Amino acid sequence: MNYVGVDMSFSIERYKEESRKVDTTGIEWDEVASHPLSKGDLFCLHYMMDIENHVPLYLSHLLVTRACMDPILTAFLACWNYEELWHGENIGKLLNLYGIEFDTQDRIANVRANLGLQNSLSILTTMAGSWLMKNFSAVYLSIGAINELSTLTGYGALIRKSGHPVLKDLLSRIIKDERRHFAFYYNSAKEWLSDNERAQKLDRWMLDRVWVPVGQGVKTQEEVDALALYLFDDEQGEEELLDLDAKIGRLPGLSGIKLMSKALYAARERVERNPRWAWRLIENEAWAVTPDRSSPVGQLTSRHGERTEEEAATS
Ligand SMILES: [Fe+2]
Ligand SMILES: [Fe+2]
Repeated sequence: MNYVGVDMSFSIERYKEESRKVDTTGIEWDEVASHPLSKGDLFCLHYMMDIENHVPLYLSHLLVTRACMDPILTAFLACWNYEELWHGENIGKLLNLYGIEFDTQDRIANVRANLGLQNSLSILTTMAGSWLMKNFSAVYLSIGAINELSTLTGYGALIRKSGHPVLKDLLSRIIKDERRHFAFYYNSAKEWLSDNERAQKLDRWMLDRVWVPVGQGVKTQEEVDALALYLFDDEQGEEELLDLDAKIGRLPGLSGIKLMSKALYAARERVERNPRWAWRLIENEAWAVTPDRSSPVGQLTSRHGERTEEEAATS
């Protein structure tokens, strides 16, 4: 069964033609520092930047799967990866202009240095799962849809929470990309799941038991909770997450599924047990990332001051 039929082929052609880096023409970058951002806003922006910048490594998980025998999926992923790169770049630029100093390449290398063995194991299990179970495709297409929808919902919530006009302008442009990404994953998942009871069962089982919110794994449970609580722990936020779950619940076999709302309620429970949980990260400005000392990734990726002119010229 091919999950990319005629309609999706048409869409992918249009997407390939239209895909480009997010257009930042006219964004009032000079104004970034003139409007305040709260600690919560800054915490979320660092989280979001790191996860956008993590997309190439996430892609490495997708490319080892059987689904990537399909050229339409790989065409999408090629464009998608490029677009996501510019989301991370622009969020980083905004943070730098706000006065938070970091070198983007160092930060990305540091985040990767902390991934450890878990990342490699995860690639292997994804690869094995996809080749052993044909319907595994339904699972990560659904997860793709959930991740994109969570991301754009999170950006919407951050616009609302921050009230920062330049951030609003930037995130509104990024949201348009995320909507297209969501449409691709959602349509592809729907096509795979339609009239395919086995795929529906597997998808439901995996989402109920294995699914975690976007970013978890790169970020800790407490960091995920801090983001969820800052953005969604009010009436409107909760409603948005219930809406999100309802949208995903329209996929065949996923009716009534609880994902992001469940994550919010679990975060609330952890705060009830320990009132400082999650909020202490925001309060202590815990967004600096230092590399794991035992990891060689930091050395492998650090190019500063270590290259001769000759090396630089030939690379
Ligand atoms: Fe993005
Ligand atoms: Fe996206």
